[in-house]
Order: sequence, then structure tokens, then C-alpha cells
Amino acid sequence: MSATLFERYGGFAAVSKIVMAFYERLLDDDQVGPYFEDVDLPRLMDHQTKFISTLMGGPASFSDEHLRRVHAQYRISAADFERTNDILASVLLDCGMDEDDVERVMSEFGRRAPSIVDPAGDA
Ligand code: HEM
Repeated sequence: MSATLFERYGGFAAVSKIVMAFYERLLDDDQVGPYFEDVDLPRLMDHQTKFISTLMGGPASFSDEHLRRVHAQYRISAADFERTNDILASVLLDCGMDEDDVERVMSEFGRRAPSIVDPAGDA
């Protein structure tokens, strides 16, 4: 059996570094930064570590129903979802992930769009 991306890239320690870089870049971003201004960041980073681990075949997992519940209040537009997608992809590349593997992670990310994007969101 081949190793999961999660295992190949060093498990939780490596994923934590990716999450750290991801959130620094999100918070700095004019378009999607404002979503995260009032969020308890340590908690969010803990959740996102589990989430990105899941996208990479790691142990933790969030159901689509859970994702829908926690994001509904933010009314996230398709454009903001796209922006987040692009930021994550560039972070993964910068963290040294192979292009093929980045594509696999991003396809897992994109698959969650129906749970995250609010069709009535702005733009
Ligand atoms: C595939 C895409 C995404 C996934 C899988 C994801 C996953 C998650 C998870 C697991 C949490 C923590 C849930 C919990 O507290 O139990 C979370 C929280 C959050 N997400 Fe996302 N997210 C995604 C996209 C986005 C996007 C595009 C935005 C905004 C541009 C966003 C904004 C937030 C915010 C603001 C929170 C904080 C909730 C809180 O703890 O108060 N997410 N997300």
C-alpha cells in the first residue's frame, strides 16, 4: 500500500507548518483576511491542521454537514472560495510539495465547495 500524502510529507508536524504559513497569508490578504480577524486563531489553526491532514489522507476528518454548519454564518462567495484555493495552492508549493500532490490536495479542497460557498454570498 502506498503511503498517504500525510505520511510522505511528515505527518502533523509538517502539516502544522503548512497551516501556519496558510493563515499568515490569509490574514494578510485584503480579500479574505477580514473573515479571520475576529476568530480565535489558535483554535482555528488546530481545526485547520486536522482539516488539511484530512485532505492529505491523514487521520482527522470533518463531515460536509459540519463544514456547512460552521461556515454558513460567513456567507462565503465563490470568488472568496477561489481566492482561498489559490492561496492554499501557493502555500503548498512554497512548502515544497510536488505539483501533482498539490493538485490532489486542491481537488479534495474543491470538492467541499458546495458545503462552504453560499450561492447568495457577495460577488
Ligand atoms: C474546502 C474549504 C474549507 C474547509 C475544508 C474549511 C474548514 C474549516 C474548519 C474545519 C473549520 C473549523 C470548524 C469548527 O470550528 O469546528 C473552519 C472554520 C472557519 N472557516 Fe473554513 N474551511 C474552508 C474554507 C473556508 C473559506 C473559503 C473561508 C473564508 C474565506 C473560511 C472561513 C472560516 C472561518 C472564518 C472559520 C472560523 C470558524 C470559527 O471557529 O469561528 N473557510 N473551516
